[in-house]
Amino acid sequence: MRSLSVRGAAALLLALTGSSAVAAPHQSRAAPRYVTNRQRADAVKDAFQVSWDGYYKYAFPHDSLRPVTNGYADDRNGWGASAVDAFSTALVMGKWDVVGQILAYVPTINFDNTTDSVSLFETTIRYLGGLLAAHDLITGPLSDNVSKTANVTAILTQAKRLADNLKVAFNTTSGVPDNNLYFNPPRRGGSDTNGIATIGTLVLEWTRLSDLTGDPQYGALAQKGESYLLSPSPALGQPFPGLLGTNVRLSDGQFVDGNGGWGGGDDSFYEYLIKMYLYDPQRFAKYRDRWVAAADSSIKYLASHPTTRPDLTYLAMWQNTTLRFTSQHLACFNGGNFILGGLTLDEPRYTRFGLALVDGCHDTYTSTATGIGPEIFSWQDASLVPLNAPNNPGPPAAQAAFYNASGFWIDNGAYVLRPEVLESYYYAYRATGDPKYQDWAWAAFQAINATCRVGSGYSDIKDVNKPGGGGFDDFQESFWFAEVLKYSYLIHAEDAPWQVKADHTNQFVFNTEAHPIRVAGGQERA
Ligand SMILES: *[C@@H]1O[C@H](CO)[C@@H](O)[C@H](O)[C@H]1NC(C)=O
Ligand SMILES: *[C@@H]1O[C@H](CO)[C@@H](O)[C@H](O)[C@H]1NC(C)=O
Ligand SMILES: *[C@@H]1O[C@H](CO)[C@@H](O)[C@H](O)[C@H]1NC(C)=O
Ligand SMILES: *[C@@H]1O[C@H](CO)[C@@H](O)[C@H](O)[C@H]1NC(C)=O
Ligand SMILES: *[C@@H]1O[C@H](CO)[C@@H](O)[C@H](O)[C@H]1NC(C)=O
Ligand SMILES: *[C@@H]1O[C@H](CO)[C@@H](O)[C@H](O)[C@H]1NC(C)=O
Ligand SMILES: *[C@@H]1O[C@H](CO)[C@@H](O)[C@H](O)[C@H]1NC(C)=O
Repeated sequence: MRSLSVRGAAALLLALTGSSAVAAPHQSRAAPRYVTNRQRADAVKDAFQVSWDGYYKYAFPHDSLRPVTNGYADDRNGWGASAVDAFSTALVMGKWDVVGQILAYVPTINFDNTTDSVSLFETTIRYLGGLLAAHDLITGPLSDNVSKTANVTAILTQAKRLADNLKVAFNTTSGVPDNNLYFNPPRRGGSDTNGIATIGTLVLEWTRLSDLTGDPQYGALAQKGESYLLSPSPALGQPFPGLLGTNVRLSDGQFVDGNGGWGGGDDSFYEYLIKMYLYDPQRFAKYRDRWVAAADSSIKYLASHPTTRPDLTYLAMWQNTTLRFTSQHLACFNGGNFILGGLTLDEPRYTRFGLALVDGCHDTYTSTATGIGPEIFSWQDASLVPLNAPNNPGPPAAQAAFYNASGFWIDNGAYVLRPEVLESYYYAYRATGDPKYQDWAWAAFQAINATCRVGSGYSDIKDVNKPGGGGFDDFQESFWFAEVLKYSYLIHAEDAPWQVKADHTNQFVFNTEAHPIRVAGGQERA
């Protein structure tokens, strides 16, 4: 798609918006031919081992390694976030020594106590998701590889104990959860509102916990909170069909703004709509309908091509119906999510649009001095909004030449070991089998390895457009283990039951932290 002319891009947009999506019965479709690249997969495993060894030596059982100073941080309540986030990655890599260390640790976590406030969302996607995925892998496709000690039962017991402490979050007038909690005893922080990502990125994990324990209360709580996002009101909360505002009142479930996008604060609400349908199409058909509405509106209203690089496609953000041409590294999961929707619903137009978004995010990597994409970037669009209108400014003078060549300019050049671009390469590869996506993932991994590798692990960096990254922030995020290393590995690894499938044979769906959760029926169904 990179060589599309302006006319080609317009024709593509027309083709994509031409028909509205109706879920067709599944057609049989052959899986692409995947090629294993052992050498690359092993290099990623080596990076995992380096990161784990640094963490285990200097930070475990705290949350995160400070690799430059060989220190630690308890940024996620001190329950060993990196260990739990590394769990499912160690399992799919077959790192049995590390698996053994984490298996022995999990039963010892004291999920009843923490000195800090607790984020319902972060705790759900990292800890609950990490435990549930480990449980599903060990009791499923890896049942022959991991001996079932009492520690395996403890994984689910600990997940339930954690959820039992978190569930007070939903004790609001509306049932929309409070994202901020305190423990010992569990109590709400007292927020007035919550955002759609932090409300809408619980339902996979909490539903799975109910399905595994046979206790329906967890799924029911998350689904009640989500119900206000599936039927948003008032009208302010839905500026485009399926595309929502951000903040919702806890007292009555009403939206208080109409500002949104596919980036942080909103992102994984959209992501989980299609993933819930993949998890169980019988229970979550409405989630599919809402994803289709959001996807169709995004293609129709948000698809944007930079003035200097009309071959590229990004999604605009919105304030009510006013567009803003800004995006984020976080938003770059969108290509992968459109591809997953295309595969799941047998709608190639979503896959094609997703691949175009993947090209756009790839450009944010290949354009910088380090070969890594920035945290926040912007562009100008001459076809959707008058040039230089207040919501369509040009680049800062110092970045004019960069914008001419790259099609975006950098608002925030940090890279904090985020996964989304690699995540979308992974879905693109699994959908197409095109080895160029493996090459892109390998190039990104090598760039990250060359720039972020420091001291006892890997660190956040300050500026992707300075050679060497402009300095380290001395922090190794737990999602480095869960996400970056997992996607970087899986795209080169042999096919396996937990890999994303293109032929309706998925056994797992990845939560937003890349923890593979077993689908409800054990295997994808129509
Ligand atoms: C798990 O064990 C099976 C059977 O021994 C083996 O074929 C497979 O490669 C192992 N899985 C991993 C991830 O090492
Ligand atoms: C977990 O496994 C380790 C090693 O096998 C064992 O020493 C420990 O007692 C187990 N813990 C629990 C709670 O079962
Ligand atoms: C909770 O943890 C903190 C920090 O580790 C500790 O100081 C405190 O005594 C603990 N409280 C309980 C009730 O365990
Ligand atoms: C829910 O909150 C109400 C008051 O806001 C309180 O009386 C009640 O005990 C709480 N229930 C639970 C299960 O925490
Ligand atoms: C969005 O619309 C509402 C209702 O008309 C208005 O109060 C609000 O200021 C608008 N927000 C923005 C960012 O324009
Ligand atoms: C960017 O491109 C425009 C249009 O081609 C040109 O007028 C301008 O001089 C270029 N700016 C830089 C800094 O290269
Ligand atoms: C990663 O970086 C280390 C240290 O600089 C180097 O030894 C290793 O070869 C690199 N790996 C890859 C795959 O580039």
